[in-house]
Amino acid sequence: MQNPIHLELSRRNLLVTSAASVAVAGAAKGPLAAQEAGDSMPHKSRLTLTVNGESRSLEVDNRTTLLDALREHLHLTGTKKGCDHGQCGACTVMVDGRRVNSCLTLAVMHDGDRVTTIEGLGRPGALHPMQAAFVKHDGFQCGYCTPGQICSSVAVLEEIKANIPSHVTGDLTVQAVVTPTEIRERMSGNICRCGAYSNIIDAIVEAAGTKA
Ligand code: FES
Ligand code: FES
Repeated sequence: MQNPIHLELSRRNLLVTSAASVAVAGAAKGPLAAQEAGDSMPHKSRLTLTVNGESRSLEVDNRTTLLDALREHLHLTGTKKGCDHGQCGACTVMVDGRRVNSCLTLAVMHDGDRVTTIEGLGRPGALHPMQAAFVKHDGFQCGYCTPGQICSSVAVLEEIKANIPSHVTGDLTVQAVVTPTEIRERMSGNICRCGAYSNIIDAIVEAAGTKA
């Protein structure tokens, strides 16, 4: 029968030898080579977005949010980063016509999608009716939340037109209409720390009238 002390020593030697072998192998390859060899999951992806009508191809780390892809990769800094976790609405853009918080969605999930940012809605001298209404009604103070407010409000009017009900829609059997109550409810995900809410409502109501 083998001596238990000898057995314990042998086991310790085996562990030390194994650890040394792994360390030597890793050092020889270098951290990147080791990562590449040992990890078959790609860390980056190529994707194509249609942003404001223009096809844009980019390569991003898979963890890149749509917000960071727009701001850091495509340099469209009109879209703002407020909280970066879905609580303020400053990062709102439209994807295939529907509003999304771009900080909460990964760029790689939108390969082939159509993205509209504040830069795509209008320009100085050719403002979108919603932008013009915000200017007319002073729908902002510092302006940090404004791109998100405007993208969101444009999408809100489309949602109402498409008869998508909100939490405050009373009668689901008739066409939804634009009311201050509907607007307040539907815009509740867009926070304005300057408190320009009443002017924002006025602007949206006017833009809805302009649209109609
Ligand atoms: Fe996306 Fe605040 S930055 S919700
Ligand atoms: Fe300043 Fe809304 S205008 S946060």
